[in-house]
Amino acid sequence: MNIISRRGWEIPERDVTPESLFFNRRSFLAGSASALALAPVVASAQRVTDTPPDPSADLYPAKRNETFVLDRPITDEKINGAYNNFYEFGSQKTIASSAQALKVRPWTVKIDGLVEKPIEIGIDELMRKMTLEERAYRHRCVEAWSMAIAWTGFPVRKLVDFAKPLGSAKYLRMETFMDPKVAFGQKQAWYPWPYIEGLSMAEATNDLAFLATGAYGHPMAKQHGAPLRLAVPWKYGFKSIKSIVRFSFVEQRPKGMWESLQASEYGFWANVNPEVPHPRWSQASEEIIGTGERKPTLKFNGYGDFVADIYKGMDSERLWA
Ligand code: MTE
Repeated sequence: MNIISRRGWEIPERDVTPESLFFNRRSFLAGSASALALAPVVASAQRVTDTPPDPSADLYPAKRNETFVLDRPITDEKINGAYNNFYEFGSQKTIASSAQALKVRPWTVKIDGLVEKPIEIGIDELMRKMTLEERAYRHRCVEAWSMAIAWTGFPVRKLVDFAKPLGSAKYLRMETFMDPKVAFGQKQAWYPWPYIEGLSMAEATNDLAFLATGAYGHPMAKQHGAPLRLAVPWKYGFKSIKSIVRFSFVEQRPKGMWESLQASEYGFWANVNPEVPHPRWSQASEEIIGTGERKPTLKFNGYGDFVADIYKGMDSERLWA
């Protein structure tokens, strides 16, 4: 297996460096035009496959938590909803229509590992046990683009409280569904499916760590990782695993899918730092998708006040992707 030729984000180096090629405004506009053209297709696909209707639709929109403020407007949903990374449905950004094949009900979430008692619970019952809230977060991909999204969901800490982990649990391991019949990307055997990601317990119980069930005031669109995905805005986007079916409390640090494929490029901690370049391109700035604007990237994606303490005294660790 030649990982180098099929690795990571599979963006050819020429698309990333020099940045002027990838971030050329005209090429983005061309991309967003096709994104907009796709939107009606996505909407009609959703109508066809969304049976039965979402039993938790009445929980939206949830009340906005005003603690989390943005320095930029929320990205247009049509743009955000047509520019996705979801390798289960392909390695292009335009996976939205393929992702409509995913059946998101019934959806059972397993909670196991180092817990008082393993739990299996349906997503709708889980949501009703948690109070949903809306949070506007920035999302910074390791590919050097960013978006701002209004997620709806609940803090990971609430799930941790519900799970009752044992004192020996050090990490939370998360797993995406596995169904190659629906997600043709999972037939590509060179990826170590299913998609896995992990957080330390300090990260998982931080105020910012969020499990999103919806976005833009309604249940999550499938391309964003319905019915349950992680949103950890101080970290690179690949940590924010989609369509989660299993949470395991473990002692050993879990290896995420990208870390398994290419550890030199995608580490466990994966915190955003503009001063530490990705091995193949700079992380100093980012393209705000939908505007063509470039902004300097902020350390911890601007969320240092919430999370910097977690990493104190960890100088020997590789904290940046
Ligand atoms: N989760 C799964 N299961 N599969 C993926 O390919 N891609 C990650 C993350 N979670 C990915 C995933 C990456 S690289 C990013 S940037 C974000 O999802 C993209 O989220 P979005 O499409 O909602 O913007």
